[in-house]
Amino acid sequence: PVGLFGEQRKNSMGVNFGNDNEIKALADAIAASVQSWKATPLVPGATSSATPTPVTDPADRRRTVGSWQAADSATVEKALGNAAAAQPDWDRMPAAGRAKILEHTADLLETHRGELIALCVREAGKTIPDAIAEVREAVDFCRYYANQARKLLGHPEVLPGPTGESNQLFLHGRGVFVCISPWNFPLAIFMGQVVAALVTGNAVIAKPAEQTNLVAFRATQILHEAGVPAAVMQLLPGDGATVGAALCKDPRVAGVAFTGSTETARAINRALAARDAAIAVLIAETGGQNALIADSSSLPEQVVKDAVNSAFYSAGQRCSCARILFVQEDIADKVIAMLAGAMDELKIGEPRLLSTDIGPVIDEDAKKILDEHSARMEKEARLIKVAKMGEEAAHGTFFAPRAFEINSLCQLKREVFGPVLHVLRWKAADLEKIIDQINATGYGLTLGVHSRIDSTIEKISRNVKVGNCYVNRNQIGAVVGVQPFGGEGLSGTGPKAGGPHYLTRFVTERTVTINT
Ligand code: SER
Repeated sequence: PVGLFGEQRKNSMGVNFGNDNEIKALADAIAASVQSWKATPLVPGATSSATPTPVTDPADRRRTVGSWQAADSATVEKALGNAAAAQPDWDRMPAAGRAKILEHTADLLETHRGELIALCVREAGKTIPDAIAEVREAVDFCRYYANQARKLLGHPEVLPGPTGESNQLFLHGRGVFVCISPWNFPLAIFMGQVVAALVTGNAVIAKPAEQTNLVAFRATQILHEAGVPAAVMQLLPGDGATVGAALCKDPRVAGVAFTGSTETARAINRALAARDAAIAVLIAETGGQNALIADSSSLPEQVVKDAVNSAFYSAGQRCSCARILFVQEDIADKVIAMLAGAMDELKIGEPRLLSTDIGPVIDEDAKKILDEHSARMEKEARLIKVAKMGEEAAHGTFFAPRAFEINSLCQLKREVFGPVLHVLRWKAADLEKIIDQINATGYGLTLGVHSRIDSTIEKISRNVKVGNCYVNRNQIGAVVGVQPFGGEGLSGTGPKAGGPHYLTRFVTERTVTINT
């Protein structure tokens, strides 16, 4: 089909779970690729002196996955010098050449799919279906942005003007782009940021989340294998406070693509603004306080299925996840009872098993924040249900999904990043108030609406300020080129990832007028 991908559209490879041979082939590929992985800085001409840190599996901390080494300050400095020196040649390369490298990257990601899935499961605690989706999304980003780059940068735009003059508009890379990616999509978001910056002619220095350096390292190796020069795509593992901060205050940096918390986005913005340098661009995708509104015309079974899927799957660790379920009072008791029943059916535990619905949260810090929030909710709200966990969860950073009934949105101060759903009853006369309350959170990422009444759907979807509104379905899993993803307000700056305008923020425009 001709979609936003254009004529060249080719879907990423899925897995047919109804086909035993396909599942076995995937299981064999995953098993064959398991090894002790290593991540180090990838910076030509520099070797870090930092001592490697072991990486253990969040599903069972007794299992070692590999080790990673942080960049020291000399490596950071070398990376900035390399990137600044290499960028002009990369920018001069025709966009079609860079697009081809992205398509080759997509093919290589599919070739290495077994290993990448194994890594996402072992390092990030992803379930196998979520890990498959990671690889698919990374592949889609490569092919989609390759196609967009051909359209946008393939030829200068010829502009009309007075006779005797030719006017052309050229798009160029801005220079050195820093890409700071999160642990919750260690492959997909890492790749999405990086390939968008690369295909538009920027040199990239990537600083992945400390929790998922191994995935980022393999992804960087794949980009090099596909043909991105080593000085154009460099990797700097390290923590935000040292490596991230050193990058964001450097005057050689022309832009930052960041996905993570709103607080960190603000800190990056301040660091960029404080430099005695050209004004840098910041593309930030941040948090959410996402609601799902169900009215009395909605189907309770569907509301519950989509609420469970949107709030608890992926251990609630998607920025798109539903955090608040507003359910109209007429159906509230029924929906709450069905929700509790559905939570009994969830299988929480070992993410290596295909039967597992929900794996661990990323680490001890994440679990601690969730435990503290849950303890507060137990005092201030009514517990609806805590899902049961299997015995195998004893050695990992697991947090059982749970639902609370609250009385007011004021009880939720900030986004809680995990499988916790807060349920609020509403009366028909309250709809406008709910819309105002959601807007008043300041976040604007996803919204779910369940209703069979067109005027209600229209009223909610037109008045709640969010980037992605989903009606009568779940509210997670935006597809590249189909549901461009990203929010507004406290949720991010835009432009939307996987959408037709994303690449435009990575380029600078130059008009050349020639008097003929
Ligand atoms: N893009 C992801 C989703 O739509 C969230 O980060 O679920």
